[in-house]
Amino acid sequence: MKKIGILTGGADCPGLNSVIRAVVRKGMQEGYVVSGIKNGWLGLIENDMRILDIRSTAGILDKGGTILGTSRVSLVDDGEQVKKLAENYKRSGLDALIAVGGEETLKIALHLHEKGLTKVVGVPKSIDNALSGTDYAFGFDTAVNVATECIDRLHTTAESHHRIIVIEVMGRYTGWIALEAGIAGGADEILVPEIPTDLRKICEDIKSRHKRGRNFSIIVVSEGASVFGYDHNIIPIGERRRFGYVGEIVAKMIEENTGFETRVSVLGHIQRGGTPTAYDRLIGTQFGVKAVDLVKEGKFGQMVSLRDNRLQSVDIEKAVKTRKEIDMELYELAKVFFAA
Ligand code: F6P
Repeated sequence: MKKIGILTGGADCPGLNSVIRAVVRKGMQEGYVVSGIKNGWLGLIENDMRILDIRSTAGILDKGGTILGTSRVSLVDDGEQVKKLAENYKRSGLDALIAVGGEETLKIALHLHEKGLTKVVGVPKSIDNALSGTDYAFGFDTAVNVATECIDRLHTTAESHHRIIVIEVMGRYTGWIALEAGIAGGADEILVPEIPTDLRKICEDIKSRHKRGRNFSIIVVSEGASVFGYDHNIIPIGERRRFGYVGEIVAKMIEENTGFETRVSVLGHIQRGGTPTAYDRLIGTQFGVKAVDLVKEGKFGQMVSLRDNRLQSVDIEKAVKTRKEIDMELYELAKVFFAA
């Protein structure tokens, strides 16, 4: 009997368990034994895996995180770890691997595929929606919904206290969560990594908004937002990728330069935890079934992808080459509502 291994790597996200469940169900129906590898690539290095079946994957569809655990490892060289990984892949009798993850995980999958060390199919997940080669990576919908609910809650308190609230959301390199949750939550300004923003302009907009009697404002900021300070310097890139850093700076500068009382709220890992939305469960399930199809068809080095609402596959290489930046048309639309 042929054996497929499945692993979940990199940052966890809601929807991973839908993929695992779907791979097990579809895999077993197609006559495969499915082995669950623990903690991403680390589980292959440490030979930590167990057979999954219908019973061990029952009741997980609505659970956040991943029942397999995850880790962040970067091993795109051919050192000791890669050797061990390849040995364990062979020794455990795996015929193929399904690697579920974002950029980091898929880059490793690509490396192993190119070196001929494993037969691998990729499944894209990214709460940041940053992966190219697919219109959608699961996890993002849940993150946008959670962030929108938080913005709604912060809206009412900002309004009651006549304050400005700066809400920092995830997104180190791309501003998808800020943009979509910002539009859905009625943000007055949205700051993203792709578009450098001048804080002086933001403060002027806030002041004129307040002059018109709108005496509170909601500012949504990606954690990796590109922001000019009052000294014209962009906040250094390394520092920008630390939770709370940009939010705190933006809030402080706004308060100092507008005179309005300002608070900051950093949503952090709340966006990544908990129950997946119906959409993320649906996409996760579809991706899992499609991944088994790709294994069956021998389409290794490929990643499941969603294009124009149709399941397809794309070279992993294409998916990890560049990041998917925000949709500029959508950003232009968001601007209609800035400081209105
Ligand atoms: O890549 C997903 C992501 O949630 C980013 O949005 C965020 O910057 C990062 O992971 C946080 O990583 P960690 O969980 O290691 O703090």
